[in-house]
Amino acid sequence: MNAISPQSRGFYIKMKIVKNKRPIRPFFHKYLKWVFWVSISLYLFTSLLINHIPNNAKPTSNHLHRHLLPTNPKTTSTQFVPRALFETTPQKPLQQPKPSINLDLKIYVYDLPDQYNNVWLSNNRCSTHLFASEVAIHRALMGSEVRTLDPYEADFFFVPVYLTCNFSTDNGFPSTHQSRHLISSVVRFVSSNMPFWNRSDGADHVFVASHDYGPCFHSIEEDAISDGIPEVLRKSIFLQTFGVTFRHVCQEAEHVLIPPYVPPGSLRSTEEGFPVDGKRNIPVFFRGKVEVHPKNFSGRVYSKGVRTMIWRKFKRNRKFFYLRRHRIEDYQSEIRRSVFCLCPLGWAPWSPRLVESVALGCVPVIIADGIRLPFTETVRWPEISLTVAERDVGKLGRILRHVVNTNLTTIQRNLWDPAKTGALLFNDRVETGDATWHVIRSLRERLLHRSYRLSMISANEELTRQTD
Ligand SMILES: *[C@@H]1O[C@H](CO)[C@@H](O)[C@H](O)[C@H]1NC(C)=O
Ligand SMILES: *[C@@H]1O[C@H](CO)[C@@H](O)[C@H](O)[C@H]1NC(C)=O
Ligand SMILES: *[C@@H]1O[C@H](CO)[C@@H](O)[C@H](O)[C@H]1NC(C)=O
Ligand SMILES: *[C@@H]1O[C@H](CO)[C@@H](O)[C@H](O)[C@H]1NC(C)=O
Repeated sequence: MNAISPQSRGFYIKMKIVKNKRPIRPFFHKYLKWVFWVSISLYLFTSLLINHIPNNAKPTSNHLHRHLLPTNPKTTSTQFVPRALFETTPQKPLQQPKPSINLDLKIYVYDLPDQYNNVWLSNNRCSTHLFASEVAIHRALMGSEVRTLDPYEADFFFVPVYLTCNFSTDNGFPSTHQSRHLISSVVRFVSSNMPFWNRSDGADHVFVASHDYGPCFHSIEEDAISDGIPEVLRKSIFLQTFGVTFRHVCQEAEHVLIPPYVPPGSLRSTEEGFPVDGKRNIPVFFRGKVEVHPKNFSGRVYSKGVRTMIWRKFKRNRKFFYLRRHRIEDYQSEIRRSVFCLCPLGWAPWSPRLVESVALGCVPVIIADGIRLPFTETVRWPEISLTVAERDVGKLGRILRHVVNTNLTTIQRNLWDPAKTGALLFNDRVETGDATWHVIRSLRERLLHRSYRLSMISANEELTRQTD
């Protein structure tokens, strides 16, 4: 730095002197020339950009469907080029235009003591497990353009507390009671140190609630419902994985639905480890917890018995169904080799399988009645997945065979679109079209909504005053 600044100062002075000596007319000519050259370079740069976008489309999807699609791959790719131009979200952010939608939103990220976040990172699982969107969104916002260091100009306040990283030593699951404790503690911290919480009662404060039942912080639905959303957070905004189409206590606060966390790196390495001419040789895949004889927890059984039913009915149908009960490290490569991936509910309706299936090109078969899915404006779920009602799970074989004979190729072609995968992944830096980008966009829409509401209120007040 020191070595450079005297030089640049010298340069600056020289420029000034030269400029002052210059008569006005030639300077104006130079200026025109400059405009000309800038326009030419801009034009060249833009066309370079446009030509590059399709090439940057994720390799994932590129060689994904080539092996599966019986149609001529040439026709498929030409069909997709124009669409890709509009919809692709390449991994490389540098080649993307800046998302202007982000620019007029400001988020202040609280700087909390380590005990609320960083201390948990010593356990590697904290930033990689299925609830780790709380870590990923924090990281992404820290480096994002929408972050402001001045809380007085912020539209929203992000509270980066890692609520799911205190893993129980007994069963390895996040200790959910601890989450409530951490929440009250962090709210006390935030509200006593700065004026912003009290100003709005936390209404412009944003939390990630990536637990099974979001801000209810319990993995058993009944307990989640009876515990409810902590009183102190009733007005806040949650980024949550839990969402259903019917009334539910655990989605009664303002919220944005987000996908479960799957490390983008793991998907990338699965894709890279897959042979280029590799075939999808597993017709129907499921690997995960199945209670063969489900326990009845005061009226509720795991997966509402759906997984048990699948297991009992189809485990002997080895030609079509590849069902495994124990999780293995490398199960993503099984997804990569599969045509249909079953995504039945567990305790909660959502599961990371959804993200993994979409990213690895396996058609997700969603069996979770009333589930609400994230980012529907980008990810048109009915076009890229199948939904089977819980009560129809016994007919799964017939349903899937029918799809193979009718619209499987259409669904697979729709899955090909990298924008859909991109929207479901959290990157360490916000990338146009990725999951954090969608969160920011949703918050911004809410802000417009809020302002709209505010203006309505003031308009009404105005009206009342006039009639008075
Ligand atoms: C983690 O959770 C356990 C069990 O709920 C609790 O006893 C412990 O205090 C928690 N650890 C921290 C650092 O909050
Ligand atoms: C916010 O309100 C709480 C509870 O009323 C109070 O204890 C706290 O001091 C207030 N914070 C500030 C910054 O005034
Ligand atoms: C679970 O037990 C309750 C009674 O506590 C009973 O009504 C219900 O049918 C049982 N559910 C299943 C799936 O066995
Ligand atoms: C494919 O067919 C299934 C079963 O007939 C139907 O439910 C689904 O909506 C269809 N999907 C698409 C994308 O056409």
